[in-house]
Amino acid sequence: MTSATATPGSTAGATATSGSTAAAGLVVKGLVKIHPGPVCALKGIDLEIPGGMFGLLGPNGAGKSTFMSIVAGLVEPTAGRVLLDGTDIVANPRFVRERLGFLPQDFGFYPELSGRAMLEFLLRLKGISGPRGRTALADALLERVNLADAAKRKVGGYSGGMRQRLGLAQAIAGDPRILIVDEPTAGLDPEERQRFYRLLAELAVGRVVLLSTHIVDDVATLCPRLAVIKSGHVVADTTPSAARESVDGLVHEGFVADADLPAFAAAHRVLSAVLVEGRTNRVRVFVPPGGTPPAGFTKSPGTLEDAYLVLMRVPDHEVPPALARSVPDATEATR
Ligand SMILES: Nc1ncnc2c1ncn2[C@@H]1O[C@H](COP(=O)(O)OP(=O)(O)OP(=O)(O)O)[C@@H](O)[C@H]1O
Ligand SMILES: [Mg+2]
Repeated sequence: MTSATATPGSTAGATATSGSTAAAGLVVKGLVKIHPGPVCALKGIDLEIPGGMFGLLGPNGAGKSTFMSIVAGLVEPTAGRVLLDGTDIVANPRFVRERLGFLPQDFGFYPELSGRAMLEFLLRLKGISGPRGRTALADALLERVNLADAAKRKVGGYSGGMRQRLGLAQAIAGDPRILIVDEPTAGLDPEERQRFYRLLAELAVGRVVLLSTHIVDDVATLCPRLAVIKSGHVVADTTPSAARESVDGLVHEGFVADADLPAFAAAHRVLSAVLVEGRTNRVRVFVPPGGTPPAGFTKSPGTLEDAYLVLMRVPDHEVPPALARSVPDATEATR
């Protein structure tokens, strides 16, 4: 690594914005990533994430993991800058690695090891120990994530939620400034998901936490701020309540028989269609200002899920401008 010369503040590349003091938290400017192929996974991402829990919401292939890997200093961007507390982490990846906890999307565990042995192994890899030794630190971390009772059990027998909590235990070792969790709740049952949410909310205090997900509930439950990413672009930089308000009054709900659904979907902006008792569909539609709702449909309060689906399914020119940018002084959201 050639980061020895990258002293924070010593180069233009290490200063947050010209004329201002270095911003606390994470600042991302013009981030582009072209994977071999070529696949342009990120097409110019601008975000400012001051601290606390920040949700990155987007469908499969949107670029979430690519974004997370760059912020974690694991993947080099093709262009753009990432600043953590004012230091350029592309020029100085060691800076972020020393301050980072990362729970990747696919965490590989050795199924034959006990939870404690697995964690100790991961701590050794990270070069982290505690004042009373590595085993004592592993035990304290297992306690922290409510796995003390399962410390001696083989990881192969852990539930999905237990594995994710073990992943979090290694991520928070060393008290990182920034915690990155990539789709942590996929595959968890509702009870495990709630338990994971609680733990993550506790761990977010005093940190930057980046949570990527395609599950709107994750963001609604945990994140005071979120960005929606679609095909490598940030299409919204907002808060859950601002996103809800921006679609409020524009969402209507009604019922449509299964056989009629294709024709209905061709004529209206369908956000969601949920089968009810195997016979009919509860359908939510987006009706732009001045538009006529389908016959028999009634106005329904807007939800964060509606706002997300508007961004995914409604043509750009019909998306309410307030949905794309509802955070005051947010960086320019690219569309
Ligand atoms: N190493 C790679 N080489 C080539 N293409 C890649 C690589 N990694 C990701 N991609 C492509 O880049 C795009 C974004 O992928 P990415 O994994 O960042 O999306 P994601 O939002 O995390 O998706 P998911 O929700 O499925 O995890 C996709 O088209 C993907 O196929
Ligand atoms: Mg991913």
